[in-house]
Amino acid sequence: MPSGDSSNEEDKFRVRKLEISDKSKGFIELLQQLSVCDSVSDKQFEERFQELSSYCNDHLVCVVEDLQSGKIIATGSMFIEKKFLRNCGKVGHIEDVVVDASARGMQLGKQVIGFLTDHARAMGCYKVILDCSVDNKGFYEKCGFKQKEIQMTMYFV
Ligand SMILES: CC(C)(COP(=O)(O)OP(=O)(O)OC[C@H]1O[C@@H](n2cnc3c(N)ncnc32)[C@H](O)[C@@H]1OP(=O)(O)O)[C@@H](O)C(=O)NCCC(=O)NCCS
Repeated sequence: MPSGDSSNEEDKFRVRKLEISDKSKGFIELLQQLSVCDSVSDKQFEERFQELSSYCNDHLVCVVEDLQSGKIIATGSMFIEKKFLRNCGKVGHIEDVVVDASARGMQLGKQVIGFLTDHARAMGCYKVILDCSVDNKGFYEKCGFKQKEIQMTMYFV
């Protein structure tokens, strides 16, 4: 289980779990590069953080901190779905993967996916799934994923 920190050989970045202080390190601004996320107050952030923390290992938000700037420059999250199928099997779902525009192409996205998939494996999941755009298919293939079937969506807002 990736509960500890791991640093790359140059010690420039730290790949770790989200901490409550990360809101002030640019975590929300990073998510804004992925989708709408423009009005999260400190209180809302704290409440959501505590709620997700209460799921313990069934929910994990991975971040990469740039140790020089102190900024959060990459993230991705995972939740563990518990099923009756597959003899009460478990599935890891990856969501909300984004690397800061200035830090793309440095293997950080791959490190985030590695952190999350290691967690799913350690939790006993039999598979990990995610949805992505056609443009990002190659990235996930480099991370070891294969395309399977299609995505269906229903938005309520
Ligand atoms: C997609 C994204 C997360 C990739 O992160 P990244 O840190 O730039 O990617 P990495 O440097 O870890 O790339 C790992 C490998 O995938 C390749 N790769 C990265 N993006 C790719 C793409 N869109 N298509 C094909 N290959 C890609 C890299 O060349 C690298 O290959 P290598 O191991 O042979 O050198 C990042 O570009 C991003 O945040 N995009 C905007 C938000 C987004 O679309 N998120 C995904 C939501 S599903």
